[in-house]
Amino acid sequence: MKKKNIIGICGSASRNSTNLSILKWISETVKFDFNLEIIDDLSKLPHFKTELTDKNVPEQVDAFRDKIENSDGIIICTPEYVFSIPSGLKNMIEWCVSTTVFSDKPIGLITASASGEKAHEELKLIMETIQAKFSEETTLLIQGVKGKFEKNGKISDKNTEIELQKFVVSFDKWTEQTAGNKDKNNA
Ligand SMILES: Cc1cc2nc3c(=O)[nH]c(=O)nc-3n(C[C@H](O)[C@H](O)[C@H](O)COP(=O)(O)O)c2cc1C
Repeated sequence: MKKKNIIGICGSASRNSTNLSILKWISETVKFDFNLEIIDDLSKLPHFKTELTDKNVPEQVDAFRDKIENSDGIIICTPEYVFSIPSGLKNMIEWCVSTTVFSDKPIGLITASASGEKAHEELKLIMETIQAKFSEETTLLIQGVKGKFEKNGKISDKNTEIELQKFVVSFDKWTEQTAGNKDKNNA
């Protein structure tokens, strides 16, 4: 069976990111089910400009939109910054709002932060608005995240590992349940 092509988007602006460690952990855990291509530096996308949304779209944005469009699913893993989602993640979403690349796309949402409650709710609202498809089981809030991982990126908290394992299984099923929804809805 062909492996699914999943894109993991890290919302952190830090090189030493726990959210990136989580995506790497997922990529190791599910290597037999799907390929996880990780996007770990959203600062490579230029700052959003409405004038460039449809015409003269910057090359990096065009390539990014294509990646999302052609994927079988997306996992966003992000910290909370100042009670909101990080600006790099918001910028990426703003570039995609005028497109349908997220419509009916199966999505997993992980907010891993000190607290993260506000960003988690915000991210769910934004993704609902751009019609990405998630379920309760494909969302996960990991609070106090720095205390649950070692400096080398390994998970030190057993419960977090179990929650992530459950998330991965649910997300994998979700991509199968929702596969082809976009084609069906456009028919
Ligand atoms: C600019 C900035 C703002 C932050 N604001 C919040 C916040 O509002 N809520 C929160 O839970 N954590 C906040 N944090 C702490 C991050 O949640 C914490 O550093 C997290 O581990 C970062 O994830 P990362 O390791 O993937 O970069 C903030 C961190 C930074 C750098």
